[in-house]
Amino acid sequence: MEFISIKQAMEKGTGQVSIRGWCYRVRNSNKMAFIVLRDSTDIIQCVVEKSKISEDIWNQALKATMECSLEIIGEIKKDERAPTGYEVSVSSLNIVGESDTFPITKDQSPEFLLDQRHLWLRSRKMTAILKVRSAVFQAIRKFFNDKGFYEEHSPIFSPTSCEGGSTLFEVKYFDDIMYLTQSWQLYAEAMISALEKIYTISPCFRAERSKTSRHLSEFWMAETEVAWFKLDDILKNAEDLVAFIVKYVVEHNEEELKFLGQDIEKLKKIKTPFPRLTYTQVLEELKKDGIEIEWGKDLRTVEEDLISKKYEKPIIITNYPKKIMAFYKSRDPENPETALCFDMIAPEGYGEIIGGSERDTDIEEMKKALIEQGEKPEKYEWYFDTRKYGKVPHSGYGLGVERVIAWLCKSDNIKDTIPFPRTMLRKTP
Ligand code: 4AD
Ligand code: MG
Repeated sequence: MEFISIKQAMEKGTGQVSIRGWCYRVRNSNKMAFIVLRDSTDIIQCVVEKSKISEDIWNQALKATMECSLEIIGEIKKDERAPTGYEVSVSSLNIVGESDTFPITKDQSPEFLLDQRHLWLRSRKMTAILKVRSAVFQAIRKFFNDKGFYEEHSPIFSPTSCEGGSTLFEVKYFDDIMYLTQSWQLYAEAMISALEKIYTISPCFRAERSKTSRHLSEFWMAETEVAWFKLDDILKNAEDLVAFIVKYVVEHNEEELKFLGQDIEKLKKIKTPFPRLTYTQVLEELKKDGIEIEWGKDLRTVEEDLISKKYEKPIIITNYPKKIMAFYKSRDPENPETALCFDMIAPEGYGEIIGGSERDTDIEEMKKALIEQGEKPEKYEWYFDTRKYGKVPHSGYGLGVERVIAWLCKSDNIKDTIPFPRTMLRKTP
């Protein structure tokens, strides 16, 4: 008989089923064994009665330990008392792979679970988060593909910085030094003169010294770059993307969201348009709460949290001071001390989920900004060519995929949103 998933078996509801997976829990007496079987879809209680099966099979059942892998054939039926409402009365059982004493038991510290991440991935919590993660990637691809964007890639080995030198990872590259990419953006700006509307989902690397619950040193960024788009066009695209991701996950992952304690009704309210404020307006809002920030200083996490907690939807903050922004963000001609840029901040203190801007097309202005940031403009000559040969207005942004997953999964640490996290202090397993 063909194996089916536990979920399919429960949908079938009656009759004989063949299922396989890992032993989630086991409890024996001298007449009965209760094995809770787990596969990628769910868990189900399986009952082995000594009196109903051969001695061989009973002996197999006694060998089952936590996390051994096994195949089970039996009769499924509804049972209110069972953990997921169904129970399998076992007629045959085969241990495929025995398991040593599993190191993870109840109430372990977060650090221990990170040390054991290769095994902790099997937990129902991690499984639920990883399913949401997969859905978020699918949603991003669907959003852009449906709009006719091309998915393209830029190199991971990069000769220059994109977001400033302080967070670059150096790598030995034959007899030279290169850096791991911080963002695909500079290459994307060259590609749009061919393809006009493009996106990517790619790993990005930042040597972030901050030991916060929001920073990874290797994270995934979904980025887009669009020819002819002005700030308003890209803002609309960014809020549409975020609303689409939320809707997609609510539709496809209701079970996981509930398991993770997420309030689905709250997520259903995440519809466009999102509130928009300028940086200057944010300072005014904060001032009302007694928090004084000097104009020109970047917003810190605490301030972003305070402002985001006033709204139920993500908020968009535009027009940050030009002088503290990356060199490629263009000046706002109507408000020249500021840039035509934006950040999107998630609700409930999950932090900045998007950073983007209209791109500068003035080579001299960009060179000046690079020098001020301690970079060598000569290294960017190829990039300036994109402005020399038929420049067009264009805009783009990058969305931090793990930050979005953390928000959707109510995960208080970004490390739980990626299978094997990398941070300043975490490089194994
Ligand atoms: O705001 P950032 O630095 O923007 C860029 O890199 C642009 N070049 C993107 C573009 O315009 N194409 O990064 C974009 C987003 C942030 O808003 C944040 O969500 C996420 O990437 N991010 C991180 N996520 C996890 N760990 C880190 N260390 C992150 N750094 C940035
Ligand atoms: Mg940013």
